[in-house]
Amino acid sequence: MSGAGAAGRRRFTGANWKMNGSGIEGISWLETVQAAAADGSLAGLDLVLFPPFTLLPVLAEGARGAGIVLGAQDVYYEKKGAFTGEVSAAMLIEAGCSWVLAGHSERRHLMGESDEMVSRKVASAIESGLGVVLCVGERLAERDSGIETEVVDGMLSKALEGLQNPDPSRIVIAYEPVWAIGTGRNASPEQASAMHGHIRDTLRRITPGGFAEACRIIYGGSVNPGNAQSIVSMPDVDGALVGGASLEALSFLQIARAGV
Ligand code: PGA
Repeated sequence: MSGAGAAGRRRFTGANWKMNGSGIEGISWLETVQAAAADGSLAGLDLVLFPPFTLLPVLAEGARGAGIVLGAQDVYYEKKGAFTGEVSAAMLIEAGCSWVLAGHSERRHLMGESDEMVSRKVASAIESGLGVVLCVGERLAERDSGIETEVVDGMLSKALEGLQNPDPSRIVIAYEPVWAIGTGRNASPEQASAMHGHIRDTLRRITPGGFAEACRIIYGGSVNPGNAQSIVSMPDVDGALVGGASLEALSFLQIARAGV
């Protein structure tokens, strides 16, 4: 199994635990993944677990054993100093991380994170050697007024503008319509594919040659084992960012294997 989709891009599946999970649950989750990986069926797939910050060092060893890499749900853009409550990219790397989420809608809309902050986070994470899953997506009112592509384009161009030569192996775009996150109402495969195609066109316009074709664009928003196959097998959909359904290792694995 190559793990690559029709366009030759390696499938990427992220488990975003948000503010859920304990050390014991994490270790047992990783044991399940390790057992499932024993037959080689996960080889060729990029699997990333994004647990809460406090679990990163606890899960680092188990993640290595399971062949899954760790990511953080957020990062701060300064290197160190008087920023109470924040965590830098270097600290995340020390804790065993190789990826980070940037611009998740819960951070943008619940914590008031601006496009400028997201852009600085992306630049700092990349400069420090982390991979970035950049999350973009419109709210329901924006889709209802027909401006969803403008909203997504604005988020993309502001977040990526600081990068000189973006490396497609270290930047993944997650399209997550806000109205589909945690609501049980996923975008239809056609809606997801249309927006992913649009995002790839925008990337062709705003990034240097070759980046757009190689960059993975993954879908997030109420993905579960029942709908994953129909979504990730659509053109331009290169994997999934999974919240609620990722808390169970077996359902996460079913989603990760969908479409390959
Ligand atoms: P959900 O969350 O799968 O629970 O909708 C997805 C996300 O927020 O990344």
